[in-house]
Amino acid sequence: MNESADGRRWWQGAVLYQLYVRSWRDTNGDGYGDLDGVIAGLDYLAWLGVDGIWLSPTMPSPDQDWGYDVSDYLGVHPELGTMADLDRLIAEARARGLRILLDLVPNHTSSAHPWFIDAASSRDARHRDYYVWADPAPGGGPPNNWLDATGHTAWAWHQPTGQYYLHLFLDSQPDLNWHEPAVHEEFREILRFWFDRGVAGFRIDVAHGLYKDAELRDDPPATGSGPMAGRFGQRPEFSQNRPETHGVYRDWRKIAEGYQPPRLLLGETWVGDLGRLAGFYGHDDELQLAFNFPFVFAPFAARELSEVVGTTLARLPAGACPVWTASNHDVGRFPTRWCGGDERQVRLALLLLATLPGTTVLYYGDEIGMTDVMVPPELRRDAMSRDRGGWNGTRDRARTPMPWDASRSGGFTAEGVTPWLPPGAAAAGRNVADQRRDPDSVLRFCRRLLALRRAELGGGVAPYEIVPAAEGQWAYRAGGLLVAANLTDQPAARPGPPGEVLLSTAGGELATELGTDQVLGPWQGIIARYPAVT
Ligand code: GLC
Ligand code: CA
Repeated sequence: MNESADGRRWWQGAVLYQLYVRSWRDTNGDGYGDLDGVIAGLDYLAWLGVDGIWLSPTMPSPDQDWGYDVSDYLGVHPELGTMADLDRLIAEARARGLRILLDLVPNHTSSAHPWFIDAASSRDARHRDYYVWADPAPGGGPPNNWLDATGHTAWAWHQPTGQYYLHLFLDSQPDLNWHEPAVHEEFREILRFWFDRGVAGFRIDVAHGLYKDAELRDDPPATGSGPMAGRFGQRPEFSQNRPETHGVYRDWRKIAEGYQPPRLLLGETWVGDLGRLAGFYGHDDELQLAFNFPFVFAPFAARELSEVVGTTLARLPAGACPVWTASNHDVGRFPTRWCGGDERQVRLALLLLATLPGTTVLYYGDEIGMTDVMVPPELRRDAMSRDRGGWNGTRDRARTPMPWDASRSGGFTAEGVTPWLPPGAAAAGRNVADQRRDPDSVLRFCRRLLALRRAELGGGVAPYEIVPAAEGQWAYRAGGLLVAANLTDQPAARPGPPGEVLLSTAGGELATELGTDQVLGPWQGIIARYPAVT
């Protein structure tokens, strides 16, 4: 397979699967999913038809933020397995045509990382400048107004050395100082270490972060509202989103392209402006993929979704590959957020995700329509979100064990073992085993979708063109396909030219809701062959 000749890459038109390792499958009865559990699930993922797997953090960590507080970038978390297990996982995945991406956290380390322990030992310690230290403001108190992820000051006072250190997340997650050249060198080595082991790429945590304003200027007030406007009333203009960060990705891209096949850099680019998002692709010399959060947070409505997609495609540089996703371990699951648990809407969302041009990232459980799980306060495990109001404020709701079967443990762990987070009620039909048996299940539908996608849209970024449709309908041409979606609860005339229907959200029993060829039922979507122009 010559992947470089025409500039095409395996991830273009591919489906990636975000697998939250701790909640996938527990093979040693400690209540936590592990790498052996991931290996045990590879056949399932190959059967489902994904191309690559992004593993949630696998490196050693005190788990104040479940692996996003790294204490060793070159190791494997002992609770998840060993380096030999990870090597085996990469090899077993490869044998099934699946690539493995790891999660890389370059914005901050754990306070238990040896770099920070050294940095905190004295003002002239060797690693002092690996982190962001500052004196108190002239009148005393924190150096500026920056806030952390809990809404409190992002500065922690360090009594022994008489300075503050910066943490944009928990105080056990000190921010790295990217103005320090040695930090760049450390991460170059980290990248090469994992690429040499056969890792296909990284999902880069807080990819819009890294550099901080050298003058530590105050963040300005947020102008809008909602998750994309900023944090706690501030726009993180100086604490994040610095232009220098692009230089890091140009550097890493060269390293990634030095491998055969080239390695993938997929950024968690948490920015609200699609022009700024486009900037992370550079001139095809920075990230190859950048997550699209305006799409994630758009309402599940025809006009808004098609607008984000249209603007994204207009802003991205020519040849760049967009990424579509709707669930993750922070924002929750789309079957709840977008669809309120309505299975018709879940199928429709999957159909859209699978036919948009570019790369699609599914979150574990999306394929069975898994919804958020209510986690009572006393069982919550996420320190960052534990105290947020309401049950849906906690990030734990989207991190619960994968329901493999209808047994009490859901097949996640041995009977009698308490899983680290409570499994949702594994009602009949809401688990993998039941859905594999049922030809009309969401899982079987999703599998058919991914097969159709691979055959029709795989291997590149399909040309996209909007097809005129009435209010509440969204229709587009993707490659040789016509996609028509009714995002309302009323039947509607089917937009677009007639053409052979290849797949409909309303198969099997749901088909009774279906109208004729010219009518879409409520929340129905179809994929048809786009008629050849004669
Ligand atoms: C990213 C991760 C999130 C984590 C944070 C700090 O947003 O997705 O889970 O808490 O970064 O690393
Ligand atoms: Ca385990």
